[in-house]
Amino acid sequence: MYRVYLDFLETAEKKRHWNIFNDVPWERLETSKATENCAQCVEIFCAEELYVPDYSSNGLELVRSRFGMAWFQTCWAFEESRHGLVFREYLTRSGLRSEAHVEALEASVCAKAWKLPFQTPRQMACYGALQEGATYVAYRRQRDQARSANDRVLEAIFHLVGRDEAAHGGFYRAIIELELAQDRAATIADLAEVISNFKMPGDGLIANYQQRLRACGAGISARAFVEHVVWPLLVTLQISRQELKAAINARR
Ligand SMILES: [Fe+2]
Ligand SMILES: [Fe+2]
Repeated sequence: MYRVYLDFLETAEKKRHWNIFNDVPWERLETSKATENCAQCVEIFCAEELYVPDYSSNGLELVRSRFGMAWFQTCWAFEESRHGLVFREYLTRSGLRSEAHVEALEASVCAKAWKLPFQTPRQMACYGALQEGATYVAYRRQRDQARSANDRVLEAIFHLVGRDEAAHGGFYRAIIELELAQDRAATIADLAEVISNFKMPGDGLIANYQQRLRACGAGISARAFVEHVVWPLLVTLQISRQELKAAINARR
């Protein structure tokens, strides 16, 4: 686990790290391109990312005795903290949202706490792989839309943030591979459990979450989740669909 984390860290430090101040071309921000629809998408992503104190404290408490995992959690928390901030900066610098509006958003986030959706480190690794994968797919779509609209700022933001999510998903996949090598049947049972009960972290925390995602086109459909997240995960992990389906049926 430590080796997996060190590989993750080496790539992050050498190739992936970015900062909000130099790597987003803020000077190219054109208020004419910043639409209300962009604001609604970025605002819901921002709210979801702003729960990072809960994600990181609960996650770290769960894995504190697992050396590589605990260090990953601390690094991950910092990377995720940049996501909420860059979205917040976009909302205010573009003029789409006032400081007062964003402060009210922060207050609404602080009013509710996120709780771990699953109770074991192995289940949470499965959840992490799926959640990061789904977030990556959603951000990739936003990046492509921004590119088509010639919006260089949003394109850069979704590129940088999405690349982090992809790397996080890769880390969790590597952890699941270790778990599979140790206990294949129990790991597949956990994966089946997590897939059967999966929901995004903002679902149930952020008011009208699904409705808002649908209204602005920020979410991904259940079908896209299966096609672009679940099936590719199974391919990487070399788990057949039949094996997964059998594990899902065994839960019933
Ligand atoms: Fe994130
Ligand atoms: Fe992430």
